[in-house]
Amino acid sequence: MGEAILSRLIASNIYLPPDVCVSDPMPERRDFLSQKYGVQVTPNNLIAAETEVMMLAVKPQSLNSVAASLVDAPAPCIVSILAGVTLSHLEDLFPAKAVVRAMPNTPAQVGAGVTAIAPNALVTTAQMQAVHKIFQAVGTVVEVAESLMNAVTGLSGSGPAYVALMIEAMADGGVAAGLPRAIAMQLATQTVLGTAQLLTETKLHPAQLKDQVTSPAGTTITAIAQLEKSGLRSAMIEAVLAATRRADELGK
Ligand SMILES: NC(=O)c1ccc[n+]([C@@H]2O[C@H](COP(=O)([O-])OP(=O)(O)OC[C@H]3O[C@@H](n4cnc5c(N)ncnc54)[C@H](OP(=O)(O)O)[C@@H]3O)[C@@H](O)[C@H]2O)c1
Repeated sequence: MGEAILSRLIASNIYLPPDVCVSDPMPERRDFLSQKYGVQVTPNNLIAAETEVMMLAVKPQSLNSVAASLVDAPAPCIVSILAGVTLSHLEDLFPAKAVVRAMPNTPAQVGAGVTAIAPNALVTTAQMQAVHKIFQAVGTVVEVAESLMNAVTGLSGSGPAYVALMIEAMADGGVAAGLPRAIAMQLATQTVLGTAQLLTETKLHPAQLKDQVTSPAGTTITAIAQLEKSGLRSAMIEAVLAATRRADELGK
């Protein structure tokens, strides 16, 4: 995820390569990142005094040891993308620092992610603008109260897996109906992408779109009746709630 954000920041000229320093313990990764993106690299988490934002993108289980090496870092604003790590935990590790908790999702890799961000009380307006700029490089950004971060995890954090499952199932349906696999996958994927784009651009409510494509006694309403009988809507609601509960448990 750190590399996905880095690659888009460089590609969209939000930061120039020499202005970014990436820390990674593995020499091969450092060589790869410096050659591919032209950024500075360091093995030891040493942060330059003029650093604007320091982003933490390690696994949550590495946080405590990484934080110990960063406690005196001069960075005025620390951004964490670590799933389940709360602002109060980050504030304990980095006392008196401006801290932003962020939750991106995997479509960030292709610039189509959505990131929810929640700042602590010390984050300034200018720092929030810098954080928005960083995550806008990988998609769209929403600000939420920190108490809603686990719900964000349950919806958009885990959501790409639900949509992938749906695409796979739609393609399976197409294959069952006689389509070749490759064509079924293309039709299913593009239908999801196109519908999401249509809803975004027209601001139609999903129910309005559904009404527009369901003619009396037609094919689509017949399919929807089947989906309702199988509990699709309820399954999706319960899935988001279950993931949110699991994020709550993991954060304790
Ligand atoms: N993947 C997602 O979709 C996603 C979405 C939202 C949030 N997140 C969060 O993003 C974080 C990273 O997840 P990921 O999937 O990108 O994991 P990952 O691929 O394992 O990335 C972790 C990175 O941290 C580096 N690292 C480990 N120890 C370090 C240290 N002491 N100092 C500096 N760098 C160190 C690792 O280096 P090496 O590769 O050399 O070991 C690796 O490049 C997690 O906290 C996760 O919760 C991920």
